[in-house]
Amino acid sequence: ASLQMYVDALPQMPIIYGYSVRGNTLVSVNLTIGMYQTKWKFHRDLPPTPVFVYGTSALTATFPGPTIIARQGIPLFVKWENHLPDQHILPTDNTVPTAIPTRGGVPAVVHLHGSVHPPQSDGSAFAWFTRDYNEVGPMWTQTTYQYPNIQPPGNLWYHDHALGLTRANLLAGLLGAYIIEKPEIDLPMTLPSGDVEDLHLIIADRSFNTDGTLYMNSTGNVPSIHPQWQPEYFGEAITVNGKVWPLLNVARKRYRFRILNASNARYLNLSLSNGLPFYVVGADGSYLSAPVRTSTIVLSPAEIADVVIDFSTSTTSFAELLNSAPYPFPTGTPTVGTLLGKVMAFKINGGQVFDNSTIPIKEVNYANVTMPEPSTKTRYIVLYEYTTPSGQSTHLYINGLRLEDPATETPKSGTTELWHVINLTPDNHPLHMHLGMMQAINITELVGYQQFFGCMTQLNDAVLCNVTDHAVGKTLPIPEYEKTWKNNVKIEPGYMTSIVVAFKIVDTNQSYPFDATAQPGYVYHCHILDHEDNAMIRPLKLLP
Ligand code: C2O
Ligand code: CU
Repeated sequence: ASLQMYVDALPQMPIIYGYSVRGNTLVSVNLTIGMYQTKWKFHRDLPPTPVFVYGTSALTATFPGPTIIARQGIPLFVKWENHLPDQHILPTDNTVPTAIPTRGGVPAVVHLHGSVHPPQSDGSAFAWFTRDYNEVGPMWTQTTYQYPNIQPPGNLWYHDHALGLTRANLLAGLLGAYIIEKPEIDLPMTLPSGDVEDLHLIIADRSFNTDGTLYMNSTGNVPSIHPQWQPEYFGEAITVNGKVWPLLNVARKRYRFRILNASNARYLNLSLSNGLPFYVVGADGSYLSAPVRTSTIVLSPAEIADVVIDFSTSTTSFAELLNSAPYPFPTGTPTVGTLLGKVMAFKINGGQVFDNSTIPIKEVNYANVTMPEPSTKTRYIVLYEYTTPSGQSTHLYINGLRLEDPATETPKSGTTELWHVINLTPDNHPLHMHLGMMQAINITELVGYQQFFGCMTQLNDAVLCNVTDHAVGKTLPIPEYEKTWKNNVKIEPGYMTSIVVAFKIVDTNQSYPFDATAQPGYVYHCHILDHEDNAMIRPLKLLP
């Protein structure tokens, strides 16, 4: 039987400030945040679930972890500690490239997604460590990570990034929200604020066993090759902030919701059942140039939409947040009319109330990308899926290469590049870049796809396969609510998506004030975690 909807109240995560106030100046702080095994109550009718979660202690650790609020220009130092047990609570698969400690323990390492920081603080998949730093990966350098917070204000998140274990570690709960604030930009917009009207919605699908434990498949789709790995994890229930199909009581006023899709593989196409629009003010780590009014928002795994919903205009006293995205996206199993077509509900109470928040007219001017100069360095990036003769996925690669293969993407620090990303698989993939910020400028269908596909599987070279003769089909519009500097870009199957990638601070055009060329470098990858683990991920090595 399915769990009853809308019986648990939507909680918010505890807040930790990434700075402190001394007199009238703000100063850096050193935080210690640990990873703990604890139990989390996902639903009124479920026994407590063993989880791996972040917190300042085992008692305060939550699913998702605490929300960190940082201030632009105030560096934050976080010592990440691993207090996880000897054994994982979920199945893992040593046949995909995986961190395998010789003395037991659960390898883990933290990446601050969307952040501009030195490579030693990036959370390289090879910089994992087990409990008490008992054992560390080959690229491990330090216990304390440095987050300079020098980029524009916006929404980030932190999560695990251990080699081959990312899908299991996030499924277990190792994720949390991170905000960079800049009052000179944030405050004039007078968006809804404070802990009642400025809320996080961290959405993630999960399946549960009747004893409350998280369910993850323990058998692979091609067990002779990978005993456990499956190409996508799709859960049977939707959780928001760690509650299954929760309910939020709201007043008739405006609310700001920072919506993160923290699912392993599930896309979301969100709308409200009573027809209220979203006013999107930010996408991933950046504000837009002006709010975008829309009735639907498509979020891939790892994408963030920062929205305002104005409940004062609601004609109903109840509204459901709906999801119409098929899985896999965009042409898999439909969700409309099923349990997976619902995310949470809002109960809209009382009459009109005083509200001094606004939906701003203008936001930031750096959101609009300028077309790169013709001399800009251009790269072709190709997404491949490898299958058995019967079509079962065995692994996915970028450019036919593995993470362990030498870096081929070696941009100059401080420059902007144009990446043409070609998707030869049947599904959409969310491309995520560490360090660099991205903005899609064109999505063009590949004409003569079969011929191009055949050539690419032979030669693995878009230029030799005459991509410019093929990328001439219809173009898809880039949604207005995605027109800013993003950390993830959705890559449409059968299309070439052209993306401007900035390897510098986008609002000031400054170079990085740290050595971005140092070891262990960065990565870019698909953010479907099951793909990232096997092994749609490549090194990104910056040059001076
Ligand atoms: Cu959100 Cu490389 O990760
Ligand atoms: Cu993918």
